[in-house]
Amino acid sequence: MRKSRILGVGMYLPERVVTNHELEAMKELETSDEWIRQRTGIEERRYVKEGESGADMAYHASVQAIENAGLTRDDIDFIILGTLSPDYNFPGNGVYLQDKLFGDRTVGALDIRNQCSSFLYGYTVADSLIRTGQFNHILVVGTEIHSTALDFTKRGRDVTVLFGDAASVIVVGPAPEGHQGLLASTLHSEGKYASDLWMEAPASVYHPRITAEMVAEGRHYPKMNGRMVFKHAVTRMVEAANEVLTKSGKTSDDVDLVLLHQANLRINTMAINLLKIPEERTVNTIMWTGNTTAASIPICMCEAIKQGKLKENDLVLAAAFGAGFTWGAALFQW
Ligand code: UT7
Repeated sequence: MRKSRILGVGMYLPERVVTNHELEAMKELETSDEWIRQRTGIEERRYVKEGESGADMAYHASVQAIENAGLTRDDIDFIILGTLSPDYNFPGNGVYLQDKLFGDRTVGALDIRNQCSSFLYGYTVADSLIRTGQFNHILVVGTEIHSTALDFTKRGRDVTVLFGDAASVIVVGPAPEGHQGLLASTLHSEGKYASDLWMEAPASVYHPRITAEMVAEGRHYPKMNGRMVFKHAVTRMVEAANEVLTKSGKTSDDVDLVLLHQANLRINTMAINLLKIPEERTVNTIMWTGNTTAASIPICMCEAIKQGKLKENDLVLAAAFGAGFTWGAALFQW
């Protein structure tokens, strides 16, 4: 059976930079640059301007990824799109991206909901679809607009300071003879912790889905049990990373580059230390992107390429943890 490889990568960040100082100036938020830097490593993030959609950002990142892969739009035959912040409640954003990229050419679009682990879920599914010959060139997209759903008061400050808007895309296609492709991946979920990191309303379990009272209580904003999520993120990412290393008969010494989901710089420092991988063999972008959920790992790929840390045939280990809880890891040859 043929293997798949990542052929190209692209990213898009909105123009508007929002620094910690800008958040600090929002009196109701009661936060500070010092607190955010010390606890998270974040210095700034990007927010979309009104009218700019998640599908728009995904479009720009896709154009870049297709060009980076040396392909044209005509080569793409499937879309897998991950987002926790679709432009509308339904349909998912995949169809809007299909329209922007292909117009009258009808291309299948699969929307996935795996939050910060979306990239790993999407890439693993894309790999299977390429291996079986079902499709030839798949866009795996992550696009998120957090800025329009944040609580800019003290009530929401723990979550609000973390998130930023962005999109990123990889193109997955057939690997050449001898290329190792995706050596191993692992995907997990544990729904008993769903309400420890979630956005509750509007919800179809409520009649009606949202009320003025729920809005007044802030139940339409994301909520997180921060410390608990932090501990799980470190443990689970390390566990999953070791799982894919074991599955593929490799050790951390074999890994050229580690790309971790960008939720908190402290989480990533702990994880990389537990994996016994030197910090030079990783890239973090959270300092200037914040947490961009589904978009984070391919943004790190772009940055690693820019820094000369990601080269042809390198062995890359990626891991992510997020809402659900969902988490996973992948080991692949670049
Ligand atoms: O991508 C999905 C996965 N997400 C994550 O992995 C995030 C995991 N969690 C975290 O990154 C951290 O738990 C946070 C950054 C969210 C919070 O950091 P922490 O060190 O766990 O702080 P804490 O929640 O224990 O709060 C410590 C103090 C509290 O004040 P008191 O009770 O000690 O007076 C908070 O009210 O910091 C306060 N605080 C803030 N202060 C200023 C919480 N958020 C803020 C804020 N600015 N933004």
